[in-house]
Amino acid sequence: MAAITMNHIVKRYGDGYVAVKDVSLDIKDGEFMILVGPSGCGKSTVLRMIVGLEDITSGEMRIDNKVVNTIAPRKRNLAMVFQNYALYPHLTVFENIAFPLRLAKRPEEEVRQRVTEAAELLELQEHLDRKPANLSGGQRQRVAMGRAIVRQADAFLFDEPLSNLDAKLRGQMRTEIARLQRRLGVTTVYVTHDQTEAMTLGDRVAVLRKGELQQVATPRELYEQPVNLFVAGFIGAPSMNFLPASVDGTHLETPLGRFDMKDERKAATVKDKPVVLVGIRPEAFEDASLVGAEQHARGSVVRATVDVTEWLGNELFAYVPYEAPEDVRRQLRDLSRELDSDQLRTQAVVALHPNSRIRDGQEAELWIDTASIHIFDPATGENLTRDEDRVAELAAQAEEHLVQLRKAQPAASGGAAGQDGGHDRARASRNPE
Ligand SMILES: Nc1ncnc2c1ncn2[C@@H]1O[C@H](COP(=O)(O)OP(=O)(O)O)[C@@H](O)[C@H]1O
Ligand SMILES: [Mg+2]
Repeated sequence: MAAITMNHIVKRYGDGYVAVKDVSLDIKDGEFMILVGPSGCGKSTVLRMIVGLEDITSGEMRIDNKVVNTIAPRKRNLAMVFQNYALYPHLTVFENIAFPLRLAKRPEEEVRQRVTEAAELLELQEHLDRKPANLSGGQRQRVAMGRAIVRQADAFLFDEPLSNLDAKLRGQMRTEIARLQRRLGVTTVYVTHDQTEAMTLGDRVAVLRKGELQQVATPRELYEQPVNLFVAGFIGAPSMNFLPASVDGTHLETPLGRFDMKDERKAATVKDKPVVLVGIRPEAFEDASLVGAEQHARGSVVRATVDVTEWLGNELFAYVPYEAPEDVRRQLRDLSRELDSDQLRTQAVVALHPNSRIRDGQEAELWIDTASIHIFDPATGENLTRDEDRVAELAAQAEEHLVQLRKAQPAASGGAAGQDGGHDRARASRNPE
């Protein structure tokens, strides 16, 4: 059992800076939780408070339901998993994995047994006599995790472990970490500023902005039903487009043209707002000439002049500059800066089918999947059109998916069966009640 529960956690540093503001978060036993947000938003501070490397100013931190605010780091039984820089180059893979057991002066027989079991689970048996320098990046990652496994830690904590790697290796390691976490079923908290890592790794993702929690949800819910402009702009690449618009019944008057949002519910929600920001993801557009009649009827079409196109083989990006009032420009510029993004300028990014014949400088008919648009309050950033029914549906789907994963788990983790009490217990308690 190693659920991690945060109740109204605040961190004020010595110089008075409040880095974490009233964060409450329930991380379930066995869950893979991502903390994501731009640099400086307080992710590492939260992680360091979980491990005990940073004092908690106020609020309550519970691990396995025990308050740990004043418990020393080494007594929390958590493992920070570092990248290869934490491996000892002069030691073999075996001794690197065995390291915490050697420190704890465990008997030779126990060391041998635990390292062998971990190596089997990590498929490192053939490499135990090699040195880290001779291993691939993925293998080194597994050695680092092996060290955490032999400690029988209650949770794994990662702080941007892949940020120094090149794109290809980062992709491989991402898959590796996801696979291992699923097999081991150990509670994992993973910090990253990279939305792709957040989307691909997490059971759930907690989005932080300036020390405040914005939304905690499955990747699908974050993408489909973001609570505000910040989450909508942060999740998804390229970013969601935000267009200023005035509302007229079910119609929206935007710089890309006037179109029907075809949704009475959304229209009713925003009818009293003079000006709104309409969020349309790049992939919600299509070249209207490639859309069949049935799909056509489900959306709306605007005419716009395309500035530049980029053909990538699997898709075609078109860039459509638009005019916007100065205050909207300023708002989008500020948001862009905060998201560390060079997008969100007053230029719509549109992702089309690669067969599209739309080219630079042409006027194009663009179909919009109106069902997927969101409308935001420009003053507060709140998503006014979040669909609570759809949110509930997504939550039910996620729950069902987890149940299936857990059912599949005993077979998938056969190598680990009965290997150590800690992890077996963790896995068993992930089963649905
Ligand atoms: N020891 C410290 N003293 C004062 N401020 C700090 C200290 N450590 C971090 N901070 C500040 O707290 C904020 C959050 O830092 P951090 O948790 O490292 O962010 P992240 O990991 O999300 O990039 C930053 O603005 C940072 O400058
Ligand atoms: Mg950090």
